Amino acid sequence: CVLTGRWINDLGSNMTIGALNGKGEFTGSYHTAVTATTNEIQLSPLQGSQHRINQKSQPTFGFTVNWSFSDSITVFTGQCFVDENGKEILKTMWLLRSSVDSIKDDWKATRVGINVFTRLRSQK
Ligand code: BTN
Repeated sequence: CVLTGRWINDLGSNMTIGALNGKGEFTGSYHTAVTATTNEIQLSPLQGSQHRINQKSQPTFGFTVNWSFSDSITVFTGQCFVDENGKEILKTMWLLRSSVDSIKDDWKATRVGINVFTRLRSQK
């Protein structure tokens, strides 16, 4: 299971992950289909790393999206699987941290969820 490439998740969000370096680190971009804000959605950068490259066929990984159109950050953690049909699938969980004006609002600043990504094939 290879992280590099274009992926779409169950919300319709798209991401592109670039080539991994020798340490398993990667960068990419994320176009979310949804937002917790009223801001206009824009392409946002992501940075992450994959565990023990070349040693496991279904690696774990994590990445951070630093949203360019809001003050929020999302961290994703997951595993790259090959399903029974040989299809690659990323099973992830995420935490979305929003910015709040006061420490009194800290309790409501973090959302949690799951996303499932499948590989986007280039349209012909
Ligand atoms: C924001 O609303 O401040 C930034 C966009 C957050 C989008 C979230 S991240 C977790 C979930 N999965 C997605 O693909 N989009 C939403």
